[in-house]
Amino acid sequence: MLFPSTARARAALFGFLFMFAAAAVQAEAANTAAKLPNVTILATGGTIAGTGASSTTTIGYTAATVGVQSLIQAVPEIAKVANVTGEQVFQIASENISDAQWLQLAKRVNLLLAQSNVDGIVITHGTDTLEETAYFLNLVVKSKKPVVVVGSMRPSTALSADGPINLYNAVRLAGTPEAAGRGVLVAMNDQVHAARDVTKANTTTADTFRTSELGVIGYIQGGKPFFYREVSRKHTVDTEFDISKLDALPQVDVAYAYANVGDVAVNALVAAGARGLVHAGVGNGSLPAKTRPALVKARKDGVVIVRASRVGQGIVARNGEANDDELDFVVADTLSPQKARILLMLALTKTTSTREIQRMFYTY
Ligand code: SIN
Repeated sequence: MLFPSTARARAALFGFLFMFAAAAVQAEAANTAAKLPNVTILATGGTIAGTGASSTTTIGYTAATVGVQSLIQAVPEIAKVANVTGEQVFQIASENISDAQWLQLAKRVNLLLAQSNVDGIVITHGTDTLEETAYFLNLVVKSKKPVVVVGSMRPSTALSADGPINLYNAVRLAGTPEAAGRGVLVAMNDQVHAARDVTKANTTTADTFRTSELGVIGYIQGGKPFFYREVSRKHTVDTEFDISKLDALPQVDVAYAYANVGDVAVNALVAAGARGLVHAGVGNGSLPAKTRPALVKARKDGVVIVRASRVGQGIVARNGEANDDELDFVVADTLSPQKARILLMLALTKTTSTREIQRMFYTY
């Protein structure tokens, strides 16, 4: 090609080349963005959005102070692996989450996942009740697309804050087609847990989320998820629960057993309007003698009783430590008391038949 001889012609050529290169860069960027998964981050607060007075403040910080856009901007690496949009659903410490907020969150998740331009959802959440929100969503989300709940144990201002890597991993997981159809997942500390079985197991350490005996379902290594176990209990699209028209859930409470416990809590909860009660019994869901008559009376008065265990692992055996057939009680199977409460609330939106509710506890 002949190099233009006049300054004007050279300027025109350079201008043309510059525009051509810029257009090529733009096209390449658009091409890359089109190939990346579209992940929506729904922020709800918690320590992952928390700030402390100094970098060594890992206790006594304030949860839920950082907004979703700042959370995303703090991890610029995310933009290389997903097209991310953020929404602040609420901004709370998770011990304050309500049934109404669960319904609000689930409805938003269902609406977003019905859109063809959303491939997966990440929910940032406080860790204290993270497992409960994850299990609630596991039962009511109506999509196979990945939904990943994530939190952190150290606030965003701490040395070695775990929020950024947990968020990055959660976005990678939510953007991975292999994560679809596994129910709601929890991504913490490089591990992938099933919502039904995971629990917070340590008050403060970064490895607090555990699925002790049943085991994690996968790992995230170098940003890539690896799966090793299928989830066997039904979830999401395979449940019978529909929250689309609900604006409240039936009142269900938990009564905790301990040595020398009486009937005060059970009677108070029933008097306060509980339609269902989860008894967090000792051992194999045993009923202390001073509590049992109150539970029997509550059942006769129409309250559905679920026998769970405070132990943390294992099956509560039906007709084991109590004759459930005779008492017309339900057993929680392996669900923790706090998760049994969630399933019982949803079950009561469908039926009061204890036979049906027991079926649900063996299904989900
Ligand atoms: C919370 O659950 O909101 C506070 C604690 C945490 O996120 O670790």
